[in-house]
Amino acid sequence: MNDEFSWGVATSAYQVEGAWDADGKGESIWDRFAHDGAISDTGDVACDHYHRLEEDLDLLVELGVNAYRFSIAWTRVIPDGTGADNPAGYDFYDRLVDGLLARGIEPVPTLYHWDLPQALEDRGGWESRETADAFAEYAERMASHFAGRVTRWLTLNEPWVMAFIGHLYGTFAPGKSSWDGALAASHHQLLGHGRAVRRMRGADPAARIGIALDCRQAVPASDSAVDAAAARHFDGFRNRWFFDPVFGKGYPMDMLEAYRSEGRIRPGLIHDGDLEEIAAPIDWLGLNFYTSLRIDEAHRELEYLEGDQASPPTPGHTEMGWLIDPQSFGVFLRRINDEWGPAEIVVTENGCSYGDGPDEDGRVRDDRRIAYLDAHIDALESARADGVPVTGYFVWSFLDNLEWSNGYGQRFGLVWVDHATGRRVPKDSFTWFRSRISE
Ligand code: FCB
Repeated sequence: MNDEFSWGVATSAYQVEGAWDADGKGESIWDRFAHDGAISDTGDVACDHYHRLEEDLDLLVELGVNAYRFSIAWTRVIPDGTGADNPAGYDFYDRLVDGLLARGIEPVPTLYHWDLPQALEDRGGWESRETADAFAEYAERMASHFAGRVTRWLTLNEPWVMAFIGHLYGTFAPGKSSWDGALAASHHQLLGHGRAVRRMRGADPAARIGIALDCRQAVPASDSAVDAAAARHFDGFRNRWFFDPVFGKGYPMDMLEAYRSEGRIRPGLIHDGDLEEIAAPIDWLGLNFYTSLRIDEAHRELEYLEGDQASPPTPGHTEMGWLIDPQSFGVFLRRINDEWGPAEIVVTENGCSYGDGPDEDGRVRDDRRIAYLDAHIDALESARADGVPVTGYFVWSFLDNLEWSNGYGQRFGLVWVDHATGRRVPKDSFTWFRSRISE
């Protein structure tokens, strides 16, 4: 194993912490969304990671990882999103960060994994420009508080999902559905990212800052020109709309024209100077990769709904209905290097959902997860061998957790969790991952 390479696992606050209103934590949009009954489960208890911190830290040691990606719940540290700090919230993340460092594991926090303070949502949420500034202020406070203990940061997780599943499809919090709202939410998140990068550097010049972008490799469903154009459009909607501005190329012109001609963008949304702010140089790119899609004219934009409806899963798909396609993983990694050229790429999420639970002897035989991860790590190694600067890989996820609107029914963990009791059982994939990363 290369000493520099990070092997880790990832989680996010709402999906694992529970303790949704403990010790002064404020309400987030996911708390509100779940309590309103928009999804069948809630994250009120989740994996109860908040109360089982020491046990979970010890499990990370057993797993043998050298890095752990988690997210900070904005409402735990600044309950209303702006204004007063909540010292008890800082205490929890101090214990997490210090507990990791004491065990020789690098903490890699994400500042925003979709749990916007409800107080900010009440003032317009990501559709409002003010939220970009609130985010930058929060980011600066975190960089300053953790300076000297945290080096690598991620600003946003998957702004596409927040913008489009949260504000167009409406199946994720805050459950809105309009094109102009979704495009406003995407722009203000990117602006918040750019402003956060600047302010974090001011607070801690040693910080190494990235963003976690998700992707879907868009493969035309046939050789026809129509499907090729649909795949190009889908790629613009799903990938280029985020990668291009972050890497200083501005918004893709074909998409800007399409959105403008369809009346989907609010006039005046993009101010002079915004694109320069969004392109604030980053130190590394986080890539979340799960699957690819075959795109035809009928599915230019509605991939998410389409993917979720693929039930029951067909062979070659995971239980999320997502196609298993490690080859496209390699293709996308090479493409990032060629097209956007980040100094470093870290795979900040990769993984699969399978429901395998304990057999009678207590063992969880999740061979399909092992096969998925093994094939994807092989694809990554081959891209590295070709010179793509990949410097880390994080499995999604450490623990089975709340899979957003899919609830507890979708299990991505290397550790099985009994959601009634909180009991943890490392799966076969846990043992396998430990040995694969110690090679
Ligand atoms: C990603 C999310 C993560 C998890 C996985 C399965 O889109 O970032 O929280 O839900 O998908």
